Amino acid sequence: MLIRVGSQTDITAGGMKVLDVAGTKVNVVSTDGRLYAFDDTCTHRGCSLARGRLDGTTVTCACHGSQFDVTSGAVVHGPAQQPLRSRSVQLEGDDLLVDDLLAR
Ligand code: FES
Repeated sequence: MLIRVGSQTDITAGGMKVLDVAGTKVNVVSTDGRLYAFDDTCTHRGCSLARGRLDGTTVTCACHGSQFDVTSGAVVHGPAQQPLRSRSVQLEGDDLLVDDLLAR
């Protein structure tokens, strides 16, 4: 279910923003004119991906250099082996909505 987690002004093009979504830290990025959302915790050893770098649609973890495709969550480069959990995200007016992944 999509829930409001912030507003359009929270997001800057090319930037990363971590928001609380039903108790989970979720990273919302705006890149290539689209929004993407994924769990902020690196699947390698748990670092915050927001401390890393976003280049186009690739986020690089600052801890050990794992890279993920933000459009799908797929691993682009290890040492991480598990993909990130992606989430639906959209703007509705000024409201930023992200899927809380909770069954209702
Ligand atoms: S914790 Fe992200 S690469 Fe190791």
